[in-house]
Amino acid sequence: MLREIIRETTVRIAVYQNQPVFGEIEHNLNRVLDDLSEHQFDLLVLPELFATGYLFADSAEAAALADTAGEGVTFTRLRELAESKDAIVIYGFPEKKGDKLFNSSLAILPDGGFHCYQKIHLFDTEKAIFLPGETGFFVIEHQGVRIGMMICFDWRFPESARKLALAGAQIICHPANLVLPHCPDAMITRALENNVFTITADRIGDESRGGKHVHFIGTSRIIAPNGVILAEIGDTETGFRMVEIDPVEADNKIITARNDIFRDRRPEYYWKDEC
Ligand code: ACM
Repeated sequence: MLREIIRETTVRIAVYQNQPVFGEIEHNLNRVLDDLSEHQFDLLVLPELFATGYLFADSAEAAALADTAGEGVTFTRLRELAESKDAIVIYGFPEKKGDKLFNSSLAILPDGGFHCYQKIHLFDTEKAIFLPGETGFFVIEHQGVRIGMMICFDWRFPESARKLALAGAQIICHPANLVLPHCPDAMITRALENNVFTITADRIGDESRGGKHVHFIGTSRIIAPNGVILAEIGDTETGFRMVEIDPVEADNKIITARNDIFRDRRPEYYWKDEC
């Protein structure tokens, strides 16, 4: 009963940071599910490509590890998790759609329904593996809570978070495999400039494959609309963090008696000089 009363206003949002072994989907999945078995949450965000690893040698290798949205062992086991926890579970995976490959994230709802976002801004060598996403940015409404998704390098384009916030997102879920050092702090700005909660779920470790090497910086964070870091996981640890928030805090864009950061926008002056 107490939980039901609390749940009317607060949501338990959680982030998980991992260190996958490249290509070992079952192993990586089991590790996450074991670690999460004792935890409770209403919304969980896992990293980009969390079960496959990141540095595909070529698109044939990525295709062999990819799933159709809503199919495959990763989806099936995370749908069980979503149902058993009565929670939304968001995770990154390589998506096969016909003969196209996308770097995607899936939001699984507690009833097993799902929504798929395809990464719009591809980073570096991803361009040799995936196609730029075609779903666009969109907002999912579940029990009055409005959630948007973007993936990793989308952070470098402030339009991504802005588009989601203008569409009504209260919580931006951000599966990531961060390489560049600036993102954790940039996400403070993304939260602040849009007055939204952000959840960046990253990974740690290194991958060296096909003559390429990547180091991942960890530093997963949950950030409040006022820019305060509510939870963080370090740059060498894996693990889980959860905080309880009131998503309605993200609806009030007023920051002074005379300033509403959305109503004060002057879009007619922003795009005129676009080349
Ligand atoms: C990235 O977009 N995974 C760096």
